[in-house]
Amino acid sequence: MTHTALGAPAERREGRQKVSGAARYAAEQPVPGRAHAWPVPATIARGRVTGVDTTAALALPGVLAVLTPDDAPRLAESDDATLAVLQDPHVPHRGWCVALAVAETLETARAAARAVRVTYAGEPHDAEFTEDHPRAHEPERVSSGPARVEHGDPEAAFAAAPVRVDTTYRVPPLHNHPLEPHATTAQWTGDRLTVHTSSQGGTTARSVLAQLFALPEERITVVSEHVGGGFGAKGTPRPDLVLAAMAARHTGRPVTLAQARRDMPTVVGHRAPTVQRLRLGASTDGRLTALLHEVSTYTSHVKEFVEYAAVVSRVMYASPALRSSHRVVALDVPSNSWMRAPGEAPGMYALESAVDELADVLGMDPVELRVRNEPDREPAGGAPFSSRHLVECLREGARRFGWDGRDRRPGTRREGPLLIGTGVAAATYPVKVSPSTAGARALPDGGFVVQVNAADIGTGARTVLAQVAADALGVPLDRVRTDVGNSDLPPAPLAGDSSGTASWGWAVHQACTELTARLARHTGPLPDEGIEVRADTTGLADADSPYARHAFGAHFAEVAVDTITGETRVRRLLGVYAAGRILNARTARSQFVGAMVMGLGMALTEHSTLDSAFGDFPEADLAGYHVPTHADVPDIEAHWIDEEDPHLNPMGSKGIGEIGIVGTAAALGNAVHHATGIRLRELPLTPDRILTALLSEG
Ligand code: MOS
Repeated sequence: MTHTALGAPAERREGRQKVSGAARYAAEQPVPGRAHAWPVPATIARGRVTGVDTTAALALPGVLAVLTPDDAPRLAESDDATLAVLQDPHVPHRGWCVALAVAETLETARAAARAVRVTYAGEPHDAEFTEDHPRAHEPERVSSGPARVEHGDPEAAFAAAPVRVDTTYRVPPLHNHPLEPHATTAQWTGDRLTVHTSSQGGTTARSVLAQLFALPEERITVVSEHVGGGFGAKGTPRPDLVLAAMAARHTGRPVTLAQARRDMPTVVGHRAPTVQRLRLGASTDGRLTALLHEVSTYTSHVKEFVEYAAVVSRVMYASPALRSSHRVVALDVPSNSWMRAPGEAPGMYALESAVDELADVLGMDPVELRVRNEPDREPAGGAPFSSRHLVECLREGARRFGWDGRDRRPGTRREGPLLIGTGVAAATYPVKVSPSTAGARALPDGGFVVQVNAADIGTGARTVLAQVAADALGVPLDRVRTDVGNSDLPPAPLAGDSSGTASWGWAVHQACTELTARLARHTGPLPDEGIEVRADTTGLADADSPYARHAFGAHFAEVAVDTITGETRVRRLLGVYAAGRILNARTARSQFVGAMVMGLGMALTEHSTLDSAFGDFPEADLAGYHVPTHADVPDIEAHWIDEEDPHLNPMGSKGIGEIGIVGTAAALGNAVHHATGIRLRELPLTPDRILTALLSEG
């Protein structure tokens, strides 16, 4: 038996196809006779459509149809109001789809969309986010937890603390902007619907289509073979899926809708801004006596989503008094949603920056301060940790980075006009897992086929699942084929919440283990079709655990701040993670590094501005919304420590897709503070802000 497949740095199976351009994405399907659709976005922030004049658009040669709220196919109700497009004249936010042009070519569809004349009855709108908004309220729940968790008497404990930090951090709206925009190609054959769509979860896409078009799921196939990233924005279907299917039904033609980059900010979701007040009270030896983390954010009127930034304070540090709470206000804004590590990414920026402030006030090393506040049980709720190696990550990171002997005093390392500084921050992300099904088939030629409707959004999922299978079957990796990304395969949950590999892998492991047992009992040659086993982890993967299960990590950063230009260049970024068993050293490293790059963008360049006059974001393309490029990304290292945790899943893995973005921005912000002595409390740390602060200091 070979059990070497798991953990090996296996190359992505689709790598060659991708780099050679052979991999086809949703908008690139060679469907004969396909037409193209182009949405018309609303130009008002609130009100209703009073008329859609399609005359000029329909007069263009090659235009097939213009769908309007009056004549578009009627949809059944679904749980997701962001998908109820072209069903009524109501405009809930700017950018909402108010008409859809369909034409023979992409160019004609775009020209037709521009020729559509829409008239509106506008209503006054409110797109002004303030933390003390009069309509703000405490929601009942945020994600899977209560909006507020409290123990002890936090206000009194803070007031009585000998050492106090009371500070407020701001994170702007952020946009996911995956490299491949949202896109769908839809085709009806009689009453069967086939879609190729760029999705993190084809099983959900199929059930949503079944709801909206009142079809049995058996008549729908959703294919997402290759997906060019998502970062949460493709976690649930977006309007492109629905609009393409509507247009295809209406015209009787296959239709592709590839969302234009500049329309994405208003229709595919974003990370809502947060204002986070942190109050940390401590004794003079650095032990926390009070931790208050209060978050304000917004949501849209279409669908409530609360950026649950305060949940990290329920996990990180021991404190006899705790408050972790959220308030939200519904505004006339585009719907916000998941963006990589929703909650944790902005939450740990604020918490880990505040901890750095406390270290400053105490005159204590920030690594030691964190170690001193290590809890022995989960602070909120008191459950034992299934495993927690944050201290080991901090120590190992400090060793690799060369942290020891650091001069704590800010503004002391100078190289000409450059100020050099280093910073540290912790990382955490919860372990999540959902029930899945999977099939495993043994073929007479000695090969195996594993099938599961997983989505490989660039993570290497199909490769890692082959490793899980090969390990469970005890065969070499090259004997296993994996089929993913098609809803005709066994249903599976989405690639999100850093839970994909654990969820799908559990079912694959189960199927392969049962298949191994079946093969052991089998005598003689296998039948031509082989022997198949199907597994379903319902009841296994959704069982409540008595343990608090989280991955942890530590980020270390070195920056150089130019005192003349205000520019921050990152010199080094190093992450050390404790995330259970690492199943593929190559793809895991890529996940960690990729997320750290995204954290670098969050810290230094990425931001959208909610223009309250228009209810929209001016940063509507990649020239305005700055994601890091190669030149911005320096020496970047990801390491992990071996962590054995028997309370997770049969592979012993924790999710790794999101933890790399958690705390990275704080490590960089803390490094900028160490370099300059300036504490900026609003992201991103752009040259104008740094220069303004430097000039007002000097
Ligand atoms: Mo992730 S934001 O759950 O795709």
